[in-house]
Amino acid sequence: MFSGPGSALPDHPMTSNLASSERKRLQARSTELATLAGGLAHEIRNPLSTIGMHLELLAEDLNQEETTRSRRMLERVTKLQHECHQLEEILNAFLQFARAGEPQREAGSLNETVTSYLEFLDPLAGEHNVEVRPHLDANLPEIPLDTALFRQVLNNLGRNALQAMPDGGTLEFITTVRDGNIVLEVIDTGRGMDEKTRDRMFQAFFSTRSSGSGLGLPTVRRIIEAHNGTISCDSEPGQGTRFTVQLPLRFQP
Ligand SMILES: Nc1ncnc2c1ncn2[C@@H]1O[C@H](COP(=O)(O)OP(=O)(O)O)[C@@H](O)[C@H]1O
Ligand SMILES: [Mg+2]
Repeated sequence: MFSGPGSALPDHPMTSNLASSERKRLQARSTELATLAGGLAHEIRNPLSTIGMHLELLAEDLNQEETTRSRRMLERVTKLQHECHQLEEILNAFLQFARAGEPQREAGSLNETVTSYLEFLDPLAGEHNVEVRPHLDANLPEIPLDTALFRQVLNNLGRNALQAMPDGGTLEFITTVRDGNIVLEVIDTGRGMDEKTRDRMFQAFFSTRSSGSGLGLPTVRRIIEAHNGTISCDSEPGQGTRFTVQLPLRFQP
């Protein structure tokens, strides 16, 4: 439903044996719904940012008064600001999810994308007592890649890993070539996942965090599948988590 404008319905057991006219009709409907959903998210974002701005001004005014009433009002405004921020996060995650299926691929280096992302992640990881260890294969070939979307893949996996290591740990980023694929592994020493979480982690809106959008991993999977790749996960409670991304060296459009 959320594939971006112009994208095709994936080959799904439910649709793969449909007559081509029926398939075209479903594709057109899916594209129309995706455009509507994306448009709706944009329409909500503008008034939401106006609401956020006015709440900020209200909070500033209330901060200057010293009465019990103004303190009570400030508490309520702060709650509203929190909810407003949550809504903004969900909308941003949703818009990223909607765009994930339309990569703009150009020959690119996964290693460079990882290195540039780690420059951003390092200070954040330091604050969490997490040591980041890259092991990048110096002979990794270039492949057609949407580097902006891949940075999102790294960011969603990296942030999940930090959230899973509240008391610190290590986070490895490994690139190699194996069996005709470029392989990227992201391995953390965090709390790991139980079976129920493992089964549902790629479902849209599934989250075990109170403020999670539940769109991080679904977006990651959509980006990787749009690059003809696959993603798998090994995780056990208390044992950490390993995500393995495989991207075929031979690109099939
Ligand atoms: N590295 C990880 N370690 C432990 N649990 C994880 C990890 N990555 C994802 N998860 C689990 O998968 C769920 C879904 O992740 P995600 O789609 O990114 O949504 P969100 O981060 O908003 O919760 C998380 O709520 C968490 O329970
Ligand atoms: Mg996440």
